[in-house]
Amino acid sequence: MVARTVDLRSDTVTKPTETMRAAMATAEVDDDILGADPTAFRLESEVAKITGKEAGLFVSSGTMGNLISVLVHCDIRGSEVILGDNSHIHIYENGGISTIGGVHPRPVKNNEDGTMDIDSIEVAIRDPRGELVFPTTKLICLENSHANSGGRCLSAEYTDRVGELAKKHGLKLHIDGARIFNASVALGVPVQRLVQAADSVSVCLSKGLGAPVGSVIVGSKSFITKARRLRKTLGGGMRQVGFICAAAFVALKENVEKLDGDHKKAKELAEGLNQIKGLKVDIAAVETNIIYVDIVEGSKITAEKLYKNLEEQGVLVMPKGLSRMRIVLHHQISSSDVHYTLSCFQQAFSGMHQENGSYSISTSRDVSYS
Ligand SMILES: Cc1ncc(COP(=O)(O)O)c(C=O)c1O
Repeated sequence: MVARTVDLRSDTVTKPTETMRAAMATAEVDDDILGADPTAFRLESEVAKITGKEAGLFVSSGTMGNLISVLVHCDIRGSEVILGDNSHIHIYENGGISTIGGVHPRPVKNNEDGTMDIDSIEVAIRDPRGELVFPTTKLICLENSHANSGGRCLSAEYTDRVGELAKKHGLKLHIDGARIFNASVALGVPVQRLVQAADSVSVCLSKGLGAPVGSVIVGSKSFITKARRLRKTLGGGMRQVGFICAAAFVALKENVEKLDGDHKKAKELAEGLNQIKGLKVDIAAVETNIIYVDIVEGSKITAEKLYKNLEEQGVLVMPKGLSRMRIVLHHQISSSDVHYTLSCFQQAFSGMHQENGSYSISTSRDVSYS
């Protein structure tokens, strides 16, 4: 029997704290579709204030937040959105912007740090003189922190430059800020400043902040009016939604200050893993709470065996591709969990090096997400 579980698959795996449960139990609620739920309103107003935008809207998930935002900005048929080829919207959201919204994606290469070259973005903007054959560029999307790049942060200056480019061409800028608080804490820059250039932002409360459910999208009042209507269309109108907003409010108030600790633990774990012969971590890329770990070629270990061995010790990680795994820290991982995890990796490697004579890698496809 496993004595303990250290769940490092994602920061979405956290369980609601006692304070969150108490807040849910006592939340004042009303029918939010009638615009009457005070707890939902309080959360939406707070996130709008933190991000420096006029208004906010609670949505069920980051995916819904991004979908609604893209659809509000791309309100004419034949619209196109420029987005990173390694972005969450492009890869992990079921292509919803096309299948549901009829919006055409124009992927631009994501650099290793999660940025897209400004010149490449500009080249991807369609020339309106070619409208007979081209879709119409309406929107640019950024992601901060950038999950698939290992949680790396986009600076305010970079975001401003993309915002200026968007303005120059009459486009809108949306930020997938699923982990914008992680970026803010890591950079030491207020969230409001990081998203200053954006017309809309989707902020997840159920990732690093540890709420059980939900995201808030923010933007101008007119953006949120349109977003509210689309949310209803998508079946995302929830009646006494204040129950879950109450837990998310606690996450916002109590857990932002824990992110710095998560980042430090991520760095410590990354450095420890990088010391293990057979593993490789790009330490400099660990800017927030996400770590990518590679099993190096020539290592006498199979990814599958490693995951199985770790799982037997209660350590859960997310396989990403053939010989790569993702590890994500969150507020329910303690320093002792980090040390335990390191010892399990060390043990797994020493054990496997002895028992295993040849190198092989998992042939399973990457089906991980979140
Ligand atoms: C960067 C990013 N954006 C959006 C999402 C989607 O959030 P959700 O799982 O709440 O739909 C995720 C999920 O992990 C994410 O990492």
